[in-house]
Amino acid sequence: MRIILLGPPGAGKGTQCKRIVDRYGLEHLSSGDILRAERAAGSELGKKAQSYMDSGGLVPDQLIVDMMIGAMKKAPKGYVLDGFPRTVVQAEELDKALQAADEKLDAVVNLEVPDEVVAGRMTGRRSCPECGAVYHIENLKPKVEGQCDNGCGELVQRDDDKPEVVANRLKIYHEQTAAVVGYYEKVGTEIISIDANQSVDGVTESVFKELDKVN
Ligand code: AP5
Ligand code: ZN
Repeated sequence: MRIILLGPPGAGKGTQCKRIVDRYGLEHLSSGDILRAERAAGSELGKKAQSYMDSGGLVPDQLIVDMMIGAMKKAPKGYVLDGFPRTVVQAEELDKALQAADEKLDAVVNLEVPDEVVAGRMTGRRSCPECGAVYHIENLKPKVEGQCDNGCGELVQRDDDKPEVVANRLKIYHEQTAAVVGYYEKVGTEIISIDANQSVDGVTESVFKELDKVN
């Protein structure tokens, strides 16, 4: 299966993707996770992306398109795209790449959550720099406060989850990324809308119910 998971920052895309890939045997291709790994490795791409990410802006389209299409080619069993496409240009480039490979998307899922809810999810998020596990100080607590359940060590707050950057990420989402939903409607791709303003398990149940139909 080839799936896109859309939604504002902090909607729960990464959290749900981990469950989706387990159930359907897919690769989780998160543009944000790949960029953070590039930064941690000190690569050229990581260095170029740094200032955009820290301010909550978008990394230039061409860098992202090359990175993500490269990752898709290495996932022959299928994938869930998380955080990509994030502009109409990226969605067009993705379509071109899929057509060139004679491939199709099986589902485009949109997680819907109001701004005030996602803002609280981002500022309360804590992540494990070792294994990538994601927690929340109120909604999804680790067993021991501030420590990863997998025994890795201390959890950290992402730099772009600080309140001033969160506000900019939401602004950029409405200015540039929300239009991606309109793009798919325009080209006649069905959007599966999910009410993601419910518990993590509730969202998972709604998503699985829809994806089971296309699997
Ligand atoms: P990226 O890492 O993609 O960030 P994002 O889209 O802003 O998404 P998040 O990771 O913040 O949230 P999420 O939806 O995955 O939520 P999560 O599951 O963690 O991008 C970072 C940056 O990289 C961008 O700002 C940009 O600079 C750059 N970038 C990336 N892709 C790009 C692209 N395509 N083009 C250009 N630039 C790009 O959940 C959030 C929190 O809420 C967690 O604490 C979780 O435990 C909690 N939670 C989850 N679900 C629920 C629930 N149902 N109820 C209660 N709490 C919940
Ligand atoms: Zn960990």
